[in-house]
Amino acid sequence: MMLVAKNADYRFKKNETAVIFITEENLKKKKGLYAERLPFISAKIDLTYFRGREGEILFIPLLDEPNFIICGLGKTAETDRESFRRASSSVIALCRDKMIGEINYLLPDIEKFPEEDALLSLAEGASLSNYEFIRYKTPGTESKFSFVEKLGFCSSVKNAPSILKKTGTISENALLCRDLVNDITEKASPLLIASEAKKLAKLKNMSCTVYGKKELEKMKMGLLLAVNKGSKVPPRLVVLKYRGNPGSKKSIACVGKGITFDSGGMNLKPSGHMETMRMDMAGAAAVLYTLKTAAELGLKKNIYGVMPLTENMLSNDSYRPGDVFRSYNGKTVEVGNTDAEGRLILADALAFTEDKLKPDCIIDMATLTGACIVAFGETVAGLLSNSDDLAETISEAAEVTGEKVWRLPLFKDYEEPLKSDFADISNIPSKKEAGTIAAATFLKNFVTRSCWAHIDIAGTAWYSAPRGYIPRNATGYGVRLLTEVIERWK
Ligand code: BES
Ligand code: ZN
Ligand code: ZN
Repeated sequence: MMLVAKNADYRFKKNETAVIFITEENLKKKKGLYAERLPFISAKIDLTYFRGREGEILFIPLLDEPNFIICGLGKTAETDRESFRRASSSVIALCRDKMIGEINYLLPDIEKFPEEDALLSLAEGASLSNYEFIRYKTPGTESKFSFVEKLGFCSSVKNAPSILKKTGTISENALLCRDLVNDITEKASPLLIASEAKKLAKLKNMSCTVYGKKELEKMKMGLLLAVNKGSKVPPRLVVLKYRGNPGSKKSIACVGKGITFDSGGMNLKPSGHMETMRMDMAGAAAVLYTLKTAAELGLKKNIYGVMPLTENMLSNDSYRPGDVFRSYNGKTVEVGNTDAEGRLILADALAFTEDKLKPDCIIDMATLTGACIVAFGETVAGLLSNSDDLAETISEAAEVTGEKVWRLPLFKDYEEPLKSDFADISNIPSKKEAGTIAAATFLKNFVTRSCWAHIDIAGTAWYSAPRGYIPRNATGYGVRLLTEVIERWK
C-alpha cells in the first residue's frame, strides 16, 4: 500500500473518496466535519442515524461530488493508538469489499491526541489490514481479493512524509513476516529461510553467516542436531549482524525459534494439533524481518538476529524420549518429550549467542508452549525475564505497538522439577504444570547474562479468528514489537 502525505487543504475532485474520522463528542458538536471543504456533508446529508461509535461506518457515494466515508472513533476519552488502528481497519475492509483502490484520510480533530500519533496509527491500521495470503490461489478464480493501493493523508503534520515512510516500512515487514509464516513447509524450509537471510546481507551495514550441518557438528550443537535427526531437510543456524552504530561496542541479540514443522516427533501430536504447525518458525520469522526493518530504517544500533532452523519430524532416525544429548554449553539434557523441541534448539542458540556474539542483552521469541495459550489466549504473549529493566522496556514497547505481553515469574521453585536422573537437566518438568514457566526455566540454564527476556508467542503468532487489523492465520506478531524495543533500548 502506498502511503502519501497531502496538504491539509487538499481539494477533492468529484471522483475521489474522502474519509472522515470523528469521535462521538465531536459529532454532536459538528466539529471536524470539514464543512468548508466538503460543504455537501453538512448541507445535504442527514447524519441523524450515525452515532460515531468506534468502527461505525457510513459510506456515501455521491454523483457530481466526491464520495465520502465517515468512520466513528468512539468516545474521546477512550481513543488511543489501538482504537485508531481498529477504526482505520474498518475503513479498509469496506473499501476492499467495494473495490475502492484509492482513498484519502482527513485527520480527526481531537484535543490531547497528537496529530502525529493519529497519522501513524491510522496508517498502521490501514497497512496491516490490507493483507491476504493468496500465493496458492490460482489468479482470477477469486474475485474478492482487492486491495487498497493508495492511501493519502491530508494533514498539517510537518514530518508526515517521514512518519509515513517509517510506518510503511515497519508494516510492510510485518506483512512479509505473515507471508513467511503462512507459507507451506515445503517452501518455507530452513534452506529457504537461510537464503532469504543471505539476501538481506545486501542491505547497508548488514552481514549474514549461515552454518550448515557439518559446521553445527563441529561446533557441537548437540540439541539442534538431535531435533533434526528425524528430518530429511538439513538444519541451519542463521546469524544476521546489523552494525548501525559502529562507534559503539554495545549490541542486542534477538533469537527466534525456527521449527519449520513440528510434528511432535516420537511424541507425535494428535490430529487437530498438528495442522498449523508450520507456524512453529514464527519466532525466527519475526527476528528475520526485525533485522530487515532495522536496516531499512537505518537504526543506530548494533543488532544480531539468530535463527536455529529445523523440522521436528518422525522417522527411523528420529531422536527418542529417554535419549541424552550434550548442548553447545556442555550441559547434558535428557529428552523427556520430543515435542518439547523448541527449548532444545533455543538452548543451543542462546548458549552460542552468548559465547560467540557476546551481546549485552538477549531477547528470544518463540512459539514455545501450548500452556501459554491456556493462560493468555491468542491476544497476549508470555514475557519472562531476569531483568526488570528489560521487562519494563518490552512492556512499554508492547503498549505502543498493541502487541500485548504479560510477565510471568521465574522463581527458583520451578527449577527442582526439571532435575533428571540421567543427565544434568530434563527438557520437561516431572509434574505437568506451569508449562510456560517450566520452558523458560529450562532456557535459563543456557544464559548467564543478566539481561535476557523470553517472549512466548504460541498464541499471538497465529489467530484462529480475525481481530480488527489482524486477519486469521499468521499475524506477523513481533516485528513491530522488537523494532520498538530495539529503538527504546539504551
Ligand atoms: N510448538 C509447540 C507449542 C505450540 C502449541 C505452539 C500450540 C503453538 C500452538 C511446542 O513445541 C510444543 O509442542 N510444546 C509442548 C510442550 C510439552 C511437550 C511439554 C506443549 O506445549 O504441549
Ligand atoms: Zn513441539
Ligand atoms: Zn514446537
